[in-house]
Amino acid sequence: MRELFEDLNPLPRLLMGPGPITADPRVLRAMSAQLLGQFDPQFRTYMAETMELYRKVFETRNRWTMLVDSTARGGIESVMVSLIEPGDRVLVGVFGRFGQLKCEIARRCGADVRVLETAWGTVFSPDQIESAVKQHRPKLVALCQGDTSTTMAQPLAGIGQICRAHDAFLYVDATASIVGMPLPVDAWEIDACTAGLQKCLAGPSGVAPITLNDRVAEAIYRRRHIEEGVRPADFVPGEGPVIASNYFDLAMIMDYWGDMALNHHTEATTMLYGARESARIALQEGLPNVHKRHALASRALVAGLQGMGLRLFGDLTNKMPNVTGVWIPDGVDGNRVRARMLDDFNIEIGTSFGPLHGRIWRIGTMGYNARKDAVLATLGALDASLAREGYALPRGAGVDAASDVYAGAAAASSAK
Ligand SMILES: Cc1ncc(COP(=O)(O)O)c(C=O)c1O
Repeated sequence: MRELFEDLNPLPRLLMGPGPITADPRVLRAMSAQLLGQFDPQFRTYMAETMELYRKVFETRNRWTMLVDSTARGGIESVMVSLIEPGDRVLVGVFGRFGQLKCEIARRCGADVRVLETAWGTVFSPDQIESAVKQHRPKLVALCQGDTSTTMAQPLAGIGQICRAHDAFLYVDATASIVGMPLPVDAWEIDACTAGLQKCLAGPSGVAPITLNDRVAEAIYRRRHIEEGVRPADFVPGEGPVIASNYFDLAMIMDYWGDMALNHHTEATTMLYGARESARIALQEGLPNVHKRHALASRALVAGLQGMGLRLFGDLTNKMPNVTGVWIPDGVDGNRVRARMLDDFNIEIGTSFGPLHGRIWRIGTMGYNARKDAVLATLGALDASLAREGYALPRGAGVDAASDVYAGAAAASSAK
């Protein structure tokens, strides 16, 4: 029956853009497990296990470590809408599109948003952040750890102490960096942190792991207003304005995940299975090894791109290990090269946003794809596609340079 279309049978793309990436088959297998009701004792066990696994992933002891059922921006929105009361001052560090997104969400929550900006391709020094905190005295400081739009990673050590010293909460969006680089939430005194699966955690997008320390959880719980229909008879509403979103109300989401097991949304069971497996995969490999694997893929990709004579984007000392920006050479139509890579090699790479749209390509080497064969295949496809577009380059030099990096790493580890 033609009106019912064909069976789903997508081409076997290798997703080497800034995310989503090709999911680990283990995650997809876990997601095909039978559904359960969210109050089934088996499922409550899986929820508790997921909380425990993500405590390890975030390197935290935070009790309130759970999942928000939404893509990563829902994690951002849940923290902001639950924490910000209209008129609260929020300082957002903007070094790319995802800082801008946090400004936009904070404004919608009624915040008095103060923006600390730096040129795309750079990050902030701790002094810049400290003087902005002193100047604006915000209730909340919001930062990306890694902003995929610029491929930059903001160093976070010491920022938590600055925020504490000035009585501000520190919120970090680690969507793009989680497990790709160190993120010790407790050691860095990060008060709230959110993420997504679709980058280094090697899963699909659709769920946002989140962790809140007690300071944040208490501030949110103080505003607790349980919805009619599940509200216990003896419930005394919290203080302050009602959290403006029902879906992203973290006080109700805590009651749902916590011992009360109070009904809220219908759990996205399949996504929880995926998130649980993504965490298990990273923890089985060991976080330091996952970080090393991403750093090695980044070194190999950088060497390969430079070997091809291409120029990399941004301050390389603060480049994320899982995404690399490269200037599209003059005279080359970046979209045509990307289309060739997709059509001829089934490999997807990205461009960027705003001032970088059409000027750089972004290549992700993350999660399941932070692998030698994926890096070499991408460089080979880029080499061939550039040549087909008439661009003169030292053919094969990119793959060779990247192979040398992998060979060097293998030799160094076998010498140990
Ligand atoms: C740093 C960062 N934050 C937030 C997001 C938004 O995530 P999502 O598209 O899953 O809502 C992204 C997506 O690329 C991101 O890189």
